[in-house]
Amino acid sequence: MARIIRVENIADHVGEEVVVRGWVYLRTDKGRLQFIRLRDGTGFVQVVVFKKNVPPEAFQAARKVTQESSVIVTGIVRQDDRAPGIPGGYEIDARDFQVVQQAEEYPIQPKEHGIDFLLDHRHLWLRTPRQWAIMRVRAEVERAISDWLDSHGFLRVDTPILTPSAAEGTTTLFETDYHGRPAYLAQTGQLYNEANIFAFERVYCFGPTFRAEKSKTRRHLQEFWMVEPEIAWCDLNELMEIEEQFISYIVQRVLERRAVELRVLERDTSALERVIPPFPRITYDEAVEMVNRAAAQGVRVPPNDEPVPPMEWGDDFGAPQETYIASQFDRPVFVHHFPTEAKAFYMEPEPDRPEVCRSVDLLAPEGYGEIIGGSERISDPEKLIAALKRHGLPLEPYRWYIDLRRYGSVPHSGFGLGVERTVAWLCGLHHVRETIAFPRMLGRMYP
Ligand code: 4AD
Ligand code: MG
Repeated sequence: MARIIRVENIADHVGEEVVVRGWVYLRTDKGRLQFIRLRDGTGFVQVVVFKKNVPPEAFQAARKVTQESSVIVTGIVRQDDRAPGIPGGYEIDARDFQVVQQAEEYPIQPKEHGIDFLLDHRHLWLRTPRQWAIMRVRAEVERAISDWLDSHGFLRVDTPILTPSAAEGTTTLFETDYHGRPAYLAQTGQLYNEANIFAFERVYCFGPTFRAEKSKTRRHLQEFWMVEPEIAWCDLNELMEIEEQFISYIVQRVLERRAVELRVLERDTSALERVIPPFPRITYDEAVEMVNRAAAQGVRVPPNDEPVPPMEWGDDFGAPQETYIASQFDRPVFVHHFPTEAKAFYMEPEPDRPEVCRSVDLLAPEGYGEIIGGSERISDPEKLIAALKRHGLPLEPYRWYIDLRRYGSVPHSGFGLGVERTVAWLCGLHHVRETIAFPRMLGRMYP
């Protein structure tokens, strides 16, 4: 019996008779020759079914097989540089061809479909080469994240998804019923991470987070995955050093291990190759000046050739403003010291200038915007209580969080990296909706 192989390992089996199990992606009828593009989940390969090489019933089956039918093919692996596929360069000369299930007429054709149609058929759309490549890059990003943190002294500690209070503002909470009391889906695991550093010094959580975002943009989902490292004895400068090492590792690892997928996506990787430390650092004040100079000159930015609008000190950056700032640098750029009022309650105000806080966002190049948000945390209990009050938050649900500042408080910092925005950037995608298998967006929860 021939061995079952996976297409990603086909190079190891040249000249051997093998079995491949998969789905028909495309078929071309050349009479006595049937060319079948097969995908098995790990790659795409061309199968050549030549009438004289297979039993008659196998040839009949190949001639009639429909798109997305499940099949089992036995054949000899041949190397041929012209053979299409992923990785490509190999084909299977069939000796047998067996249909497991003949598929009904498939809704997704190899032509252009509208985005709503594709999102309605996300359960099938995932099978196409482009989506396949994106999900494999995503998995590599997630593996790189864990590998880097695990090998740099961070302990993974999982944090709850059902939470009693807000952490990132009260306007984006998803409320659920917790046996008659309100509970909220986690917007972040950070507050629990802060408890965990006092037990483990460096920790991270990595999981789904939820934001009831009321706006439809190409950077926002209702449910997204975030990795959040939290570090004891760490100030804002050390935080930026950790972030740039971390991001550079992720980018270089994807370039190294997912080159095939990036080629499928036709990603120009030269901009990614430049992502090595150190990254430029500018203050919020400097960024506002840059934006206002550009606005005065009528500068426009992609993707919609929009003008960069002017802004006032204290405003948050909009998408065109972030895009403009990032476009002034050849690698990701840190913007630090945002206005205290514009940021979350837990960020440490700068002692000599309390109207700004020790916060930092990392903006990705090429218009992908903020991929990391982070800060130094308030470590004094009285300052924290004052900040909670200023934000109009009740003290009672945060009692445990205030406690952390009473029993051995230390300076500490942390950040959150959004997986979907990172994958959109690395893959060069227009919208984050393609970076997660089943996106949750405003007005859409199917499939
Ligand atoms: O800046 P954010 O809101 O930071 C926090 O949640 C902090 N608690 C993190 C921390 O310090 N531990 O979110 C962090 C990142 C953003 O930079 C972005 O990449 C991503 O999470 N993000 C989203 N991604 C997709 N859809 C959304 N609605 C997102 N909101 C934030
Ligand atoms: Mg942010």
